[in-house]
Amino acid sequence: MNRKDFYSLLQKKQEYDYENYLNTEKLLSCQKDFTSLCNKDELQFQIVHQTEELWLKLIVYSLLDIDDYLEAKNTNRVLSLFKRVHLTQQLMIEQLALLETMSPYDYQLIRQQLGNGSGKESPGFRALSKAPAYLWNTFNSKYLEADNLTVKNIYHTEYRHCNAYMIAECLAEFDELHQKFCYHHMQLIYRSIGFESKSLKGRSVELLNQRVREKFFPELWQIRTDMTDAWGQQYGTVRKSISD
Ligand code: HEM
Repeated sequence: MNRKDFYSLLQKKQEYDYENYLNTEKLLSCQKDFTSLCNKDELQFQIVHQTEELWLKLIVYSLLDIDDYLEAKNTNRVLSLFKRVHLTQQLMIEQLALLETMSPYDYQLIRQQLGNGSGKESPGFRALSKAPAYLWNTFNSKYLEADNLTVKNIYHTEYRHCNAYMIAECLAEFDELHQKFCYHHMQLIYRSIGFESKSLKGRSVELLNQRVREKFFPELWQIRTDMTDAWGQQYGTVRKSISD
């Protein structure tokens, strides 16, 4: 196969509406030129990271919309948009696996290209990390305080699967998927550079493990523990076998 023919197609000047609308010329030149790639895995490495940034952009954009719809108490819109956010988070997790097709040796070569770059500098991840505090404030004031409700009411003492409960579950799902991303990213790190190695900033990668258990919405997890404790008091912490 003549590679040059394929390469020139992928690098052609845009002329058709499809290409113009999607800005394909710019998009396809966001990766290193084929001749500058350090090895056969570097294109995949760049594309996965760039795509993850695009998904993060979409998530943050959707979260801002969700905040507006929470403010307006438009529950149906909030639920639809959360579905989009959750699906995008799942895609982000799934595509990490692509990088596990890269050998540790090939990654060591790519790593030399990265300077002292760190995922902590990701614009999308930083924006995403800021959004949950705003969502929680709006949810709390519009769906809980405005109706004299608490998390305990909607999950336990006045549980009726109401709008506030549905939205709280969307927030919990967002939180859980974020933790899953952090967990899968941690596994990817172990697979690529091993346990207890150092990042390009010289920090132990184990520091990232804290993130896996950090919650954006701790109240939504605490209520589950509180319910188990409260119900457990009725039947005892260690239950009798149902076969006795
Ligand atoms: C072989 C693949 C990868 C390796 C070896 C790797 C390695 C690392 C390391 C060592 C850190 C810690 C950096 C520090 O302490 O400054 C880190 C952080 C991070 N990486 Fe990756 N990474 C990989 C792929 C990805 C991908 C595909 C993404 C996509 C978004 C990503 C996003 C992040 C983010 C957001 C952080 C900061 C996490 C936090 O602060 O909790 N990484 N990565």
